[in-house]
Amino acid sequence: MERTSIRLGGVDLHSTIMNASGPRSAERGEIYELSAVHAGALVFKSCNLAGLEAPENLKNRGVEHFAAIAGELTARGKQIIGSIVGTSEDEFITVARILDRAGVAILELNLADDYVANSVAPFASFERLKALIGGVRGAANGVLAVKLPPRSQFPPRALADLLKSMQVAIAVCQNDLPKDLEIDLATGSVKGKLRALSHAHAMYQESENLLDIVAVGGINNGRDAYLAHLSGAKGLQVGSALMKEGAGALGRIDRELDALLGEHGKRSVSEIIGRLTFTEA
Ligand SMILES: Cc1cc2nc3c(=O)[nH]c(=O)nc-3n(C[C@H](O)[C@H](O)[C@H](O)COP(=O)(O)O)c2cc1C
Repeated sequence: MERTSIRLGGVDLHSTIMNASGPRSAERGEIYELSAVHAGALVFKSCNLAGLEAPENLKNRGVEHFAAIAGELTARGKQIIGSIVGTSEDEFITVARILDRAGVAILELNLADDYVANSVAPFASFERLKALIGGVRGAANGVLAVKLPPRSQFPPRALADLLKSMQVAIAVCQNDLPKDLEIDLATGSVKGKLRALSHAHAMYQESENLLDIVAVGGINNGRDAYLAHLSGAKGLQVGSALMKEGAGALGRIDRELDALLGEHGKRSVSEIIGRLTFTEA
């Protein structure tokens, strides 16, 4: 077992590091390149039913394009995370069903994008969110993940409870840790009082280990990864570094994380997940 391997939402992955949905994960060639250079899970760009030309950040060829690739890669043992957008509950359900049948291991509902907020408005009420997730849950067998916006009208505890009750296994949260965080990496000790340091950390604190947290945002090197794990994240998604540097960024960050774990005498990344402490109670 590699030091950075993990069980996420009940799925065994070779690494906690994976690409974030979007960058270099839309076209066949990009996806095959990501798959070839890194053994961790592969996250598809968000897709809807028929494909989109706009908005620019959600441009995609539609779910059948991704389903065909999922079929090929899962046959070779690759763990795929499919990401879903849509403008209606029915669209989410149909896309989820197609990806599920294609062998995708984890279905990530992208509820973080304005495109979804402005159409489905999943966070308009608890009933709306429940209906959307419940509809997908009823249509697909795969592990469910929800990518959350950094802010919603729901407090983290209420949101965590709702996700758990809907059998969502994974919450993908923002890794918005303060830039000037004073932390001793060797002990995982942060200066000051016990507090939520990021969206991901807040959701980790409120989910009592019944949800697995994936952190996304600002993970550019091994130290960023180490910190995000200390704050409770079991999985980490890399976006901008991948855009800037190419697919090799995933392996580099994985190796840097592995080296830091070794330096601090850890045999597995599991030994640091959620182990932040504070100098004041
Ligand atoms: C060009 C581009 C396209 C993106 N497309 C998607 C997408 O299709 N679905 C999604 O959930 N997030 C998308 N994102 C957001 C990323 O998944 C990620 O949340 C964001 O880039 C923050 O991570 P980073 O700081 O490592 O870049 C996109 C980001 C970029 C830069």
